[in-house]
Amino acid sequence: MLGLKTQTSPKWAEAVLQDLQTFLTDHAYNEMKAAQSAMAVINHQPDDTEFVNTMSALAIEEIQHFEMVYEWIQKMHLQLGQESQNAYAMQLRKFFPKTKDRQEKFLQKLMLSSLMEARSCERFSVLIPVLEPIHPELAGFYKDLFASEARHYRVFLEYARKFGGKERIDPIWDRLLTYEAKLIDSLGHKALVHG
Ligand SMILES: [Fe+2]
Ligand SMILES: [Fe+2]
Repeated sequence: MLGLKTQTSPKWAEAVLQDLQTFLTDHAYNEMKAAQSAMAVINHQPDDTEFVNTMSALAIEEIQHFEMVYEWIQKMHLQLGQESQNAYAMQLRKFFPKTKDRQEKFLQKLMLSSLMEARSCERFSVLIPVLEPIHPELAGFYKDLFASEARHYRVFLEYARKFGGKERIDPIWDRLLTYEAKLIDSLGHKALVHG
């Protein structure tokens, strides 16, 4: 799905079902970070009106997602709680060699955002059928999110191709997908969006 090279096991969704508190907290902070990442790339292409408009609209959407997840947390009488370390994001960033080149950093950020969107999306698709019989409304919420995160995945990847050149980005993207598949398989089945 979405070009990803490994599929999430339903065992992961079972772990989420057992610990919705941990999952929803992690999900809420993921939405917050997605908003921050979208705002952060604007500075790399500030004179491109279409890019700035797209990224600020995307950031607003992610903040709305944060609000919606937080509403679910309240509805279920849970707590937002503290943000925990995101081992997946930290490890994923290590795929790219450190660079001071601003354009390279920009392209890396676009690819990383695209991939994190794709994986969130794939995970929601695994979660939905497991949630459906027990929490049908929450399953419906994840169906809606699936559509917008799938769109975000494409937006970031298309910008990486636009600004980096498709012939240069596509082979890097392919290697990144291979790296990500190994990484996510190594993380086991924690009740985290990317855990
Ligand atoms: Fe989102
Ligand atoms: Fe997103």
